[in-house]
Amino acid sequence: MGKAVFIRNAAQLITLKGSSTAPLVKEGMSELGIIKNGSVWVEDGIIQAVGKDEVLFEKFAVRIEQAEVVDATGKLVTPGLVDPHTHLVFAGSRETEFNMRLKGATYMEIMNAGGGIHATTKRTKLATHDELFQESFERLNQFLLHGVTTVEAKSGYGMEWETERKQLEVAKQLNELHPIDVVSTFMGAHAVPKEYKDNPDDFVKLLVKEIIPKVSELRLAEFNDVFCEKGVFTPEQARTILETGKVYGLTAKIHADEIEPFEGAELAAKVGAISADHLLKASEKGLRAMAEKGVVGVLLPGTAYFLMAESANGRHMVDLGVPVALSTDCNPGSSPTVSLPFMMNLACLKMGLTPAEVITAATINAAHAIGRASIIGSLEERKKGDVTIFNVENYMKLQYLYGVNHIDTVIKNGRVVVKGGRLVEKLSLS
Ligand code: NIG
Ligand code: FE
Repeated sequence: MGKAVFIRNAAQLITLKGSSTAPLVKEGMSELGIIKNGSVWVEDGIIQAVGKDEVLFEKFAVRIEQAEVVDATGKLVTPGLVDPHTHLVFAGSRETEFNMRLKGATYMEIMNAGGGIHATTKRTKLATHDELFQESFERLNQFLLHGVTTVEAKSGYGMEWETERKQLEVAKQLNELHPIDVVSTFMGAHAVPKEYKDNPDDFVKLLVKEIIPKVSELRLAEFNDVFCEKGVFTPEQARTILETGKVYGLTAKIHADEIEPFEGAELAAKVGAISADHLLKASEKGLRAMAEKGVVGVLLPGTAYFLMAESANGRHMVDLGVPVALSTDCNPGSSPTVSLPFMMNLACLKMGLTPAEVITAATINAAHAIGRASIIGSLEERKKGDVTIFNVENYMKLQYLYGVNHIDTVIKNGRVVVKGGRLVEKLSLS
């Protein structure tokens, strides 16, 4: 399995100890479990020990010679960042739409005129498996360079079986071949295909009667997501899709209340979704229901930023007791970024979250949003050896010095994959 990795003497080692059984809420989101002069011993891909440097040095003294030592003196060490909401697998880009939006067109207008999600769908249908794989692989490299070690990836640029399957198969292959762990979500209900414009219920029928059963049978996804939005899928349609997914073993997720209030948060609580994402226009009632049920609110500050909209009220959600997580929403239309650290900065400045809360939101709470909190999201014994090291000496400075990539080192499954801010080896198949 390779050498042990000994990360030594961090100025601040953020452990988030004791957060694996339930997502952190309220004041709990600020309890980072910081160890000064902290060290981590990783072996066989797994964290074997976490503690003060002097303690670990003594414990492993006889074995240090054989380990790869990573000096974290003066640096900030956190659990590998987790991105719980991306549309990773897509072809092409949409900078012309960006230009149109800057001139006044809205996201929904562009989509209703056949652009937006439909434009990426066209490109994704035309791309071969290998082309899609290659594009997405490069994006994963970029994620790694921004400290991210696990990424959730949604399908949804097909909205018919062949292309949805192609996207999910690419995600599966990426999970096998790229160091980053890729967690798959089926999102056939991403938009209503043009051919179903006048009878969207027929498309819902196709999803629940044919496509969801096939996704489940081939074990191509763990989660099932739907874009519940005015002009896309109604709460009733979304409910049918999510409840059917549950019957087929797919856990519900939902794009909720992104552009208009549409009772998406309420629906998430009703169907027992693991997360409700976006929530810019979520109602007070819906948020309270989410807090009560422990539904993770995945906030995507890059989307509001890029669509020039008002951000979700993250501060209020944390105060209400909603477990909050953060994500890039990486996609070619509303948030073409891989920088989860930039999302953390936006969450501070646009949502009123604190530097401590955004660390929790991008690690353990994000892990809870994808059902992985028992194996990632905190630095504790027996968890995966996923560790991110930043070139700053404390977590507040990470947010204060904004707009810069502070990544120094990334360790994934106990292997150093980024060193000095660069990929250690060329992670490419070509
Ligand atoms: O999360 N809202 C729907 N889906 C994506 C955007 C996808 C796209 O524009 O290609 C989102 O914002
Ligand atoms: Fe999204």
